Amino acid sequence: MMTRRQVTAGVLASATVSGSAIAAGASDEGSLPLAVPRNAGGMPLMAALKLRHSTREYSEQALSEQSLSDLLWAAFGVNRSSGDRTAPYWRHVMVIDVYVAKSDGVWLYEPQAHALRRHLPDDIRGQTGLQDFVAKAPVNLVYVAHGERMTDITLEERRLYASVDTGFIGQNVYLFCASEGLASVFRGAVDYQKLHRLLRLPEEQFVTFAQTVGYPHA
Ligand SMILES: Cc1cc2nc3c(=O)[nH]c(=O)nc-3n(C[C@H](O)[C@H](O)[C@H](O)COP(=O)(O)O)c2cc1C
Repeated sequence: MMTRRQVTAGVLASATVSGSAIAAGASDEGSLPLAVPRNAGGMPLMAALKLRHSTREYSEQALSEQSLSDLLWAAFGVNRSSGDRTAPYWRHVMVIDVYVAKSDGVWLYEPQAHALRRHLPDDIRGQTGLQDFVAKAPVNLVYVAHGERMTDITLEERRLYASVDTGFIGQNVYLFCASEGLASVFRGAVDYQKLHRLLRLPEEQFVTFAQTVGYPHA
């Protein structure tokens, strides 16, 4: 098993590489660079907190490329040269992947390169939850945990810590949406087995939650 120090060293090493990747806007062949995130400005935090709420009626309007980029950076982007993220995470072990289900398929967010990697060509938005609005909202984030990276703890603890990590990301998304006039709802009403199968996830990975993002229905 890796010690905490070894894990940290690994993260730092990849952050060094990613730092230059971000600066150059580079990404490898299989992934699509996102727009440079506008990670300054926005609404004052207290004003965003005042507006944060869940929405269950969405317009079909797509997010602009810039909004999607900003959203993903706010959710779980790299915010320091160490490679660490906008949300805290368990034991400094990177457990959560953010998948983005859109009309043009499913994409995996790659924070180090701030890029999207195509995962599936299919529109599976309607299968990311048990509520009708998920099929039409432009973006459904699906949070997936790497159970195999959570060593020396019980399965129950894996679920617990992965859920906490996800919750922090979810709140980042809520606050970003409040600040940007977007709508969101964090969701546990998901057919987990079906989504696991549809996403073709390895056995040891598991979906924790999903979260819809879009424009509120007029
Ligand atoms: C762990 C968790 C799971 C949730 N699952 C769902 C869900 O499946 N569907 C849904 O519409 N809202 C879901 N919500 C949103 C809550 O219903 C909502 O946050 C709560 O009613 C308070 O409303 P507010 O977010 O507008 O303040 C979930 C929230 C949390 C924290």
